[in-house]
Amino acid sequence: MTKPLVQLLEQQTFTDEEAARLLSLTAPDECRQLQERAYALTTELLGENVYLRGLIEISNICTANCRYCGIRKNNHAVERYTLSEETILACAELAARSGYGSIAIQAGERRDPKWIEWIADLLKKIHARTVNDALPSGLGITLSLGEQTYDVYRYWAEASGNPNGLRYLLRIESSNPTLFRSLHCTPGKNEKVLEHRYRALEDLRRAGYQVGTGVMIGLPGQTIEDLVADIRTFERIDADMIGMGPYITSNGADMVSEGMLPKAQLMQLSLNMIAVTRLMMRNVNIAAATALETLEPNGRIKGILHGCNVIMPNITPQQTRSSYQLYDNKAGCEVGAESNVLVENNIVEIAHRRLGLNQLGSSLRWHTR
Ligand code: 5AD
Repeated sequence: MTKPLVQLLEQQTFTDEEAARLLSLTAPDECRQLQERAYALTTELLGENVYLRGLIEISNICTANCRYCGIRKNNHAVERYTLSEETILACAELAARSGYGSIAIQAGERRDPKWIEWIADLLKKIHARTVNDALPSGLGITLSLGEQTYDVYRYWAEASGNPNGLRYLLRIESSNPTLFRSLHCTPGKNEKVLEHRYRALEDLRRAGYQVGTGVMIGLPGQTIEDLVADIRTFERIDADMIGMGPYITSNGADMVSEGMLPKAQLMQLSLNMIAVTRLMMRNVNIAAATALETLEPNGRIKGILHGCNVIMPNITPQQTRSSYQLYDNKAGCEVGAESNVLVENNIVEIAHRRLGLNQLGSSLRWHTR
């Protein structure tokens, strides 16, 4: 006989079969029970704060050719940009003034020495300009700059002025090796290898970072068992933070013909994945991805209601936002910074959370490791 859902939801550990059952829920009443449990557990373990990371998309130049991604190297229709140092520093100062407490710096993947040097320099300047009374150790910083070497991670950590608090987001995209390979290989070339991604995540840990990873949900060919294995991989990596969102086709990418799940189904699966990850990973930070918002207005607020405790409002200057189209109709391309105020209001009014203003919001798992 199958266990009653209420009983299953109270457990602290889950078998693969139990996780698969929770991920597969579709009946509205059952989905609501999962949602309420994930939200309550988040409050119980982490409190009511939602932490804000101002997202700055500093460059869309990329040397990789990931088949799902709109800014892959071979998409020649994209106009490439790199923000000037002054522009980025102004964004960081705006974030600090707005009480964000932390920023996330994201760009395409590059490993040339000039770029590595430039990032180190930028980190030094951000630190110098954002230390103030409210933020005595400067803005918290998350880097999302692709696979690098241990030495580069160390170099950036030292430059950041906060060598033991720097964070890095490097999604594994999928823990199914066959799926990973098919997502990253152009004919004749295997451009990315899952084992390298795992090594990069280990290097980040050794280099002293708070380590974030995640996957795309609803990829063509991905099964519920794959998603269970993804969560097991988060456990094995002992990730401090998780960022994951629905897979959305991108016209500039290479997978359009493979399609995507119908919106409503994709939304529910994504929310279930967030909720089950909360139940299984417990004290990690989980970010509500922008891709949720693209599927549905207030999608990120739904993410918070399902166990997310971090949101990354886009603070990239308006002019370049439309050139950072990882997928079609990416949310936030059309509206200015004022929309972030709306999001912040909704966090309080709809999700009944508090804004963790002027706080770094490091993951509890990292603090208690
Ligand atoms: N749909 C959803 N997410 C995407 N990403 C890239 N392309 C897509 C897409 N088509 C995500 C990847 C990457 C992050 C920066 O953006 O997971 O790690």
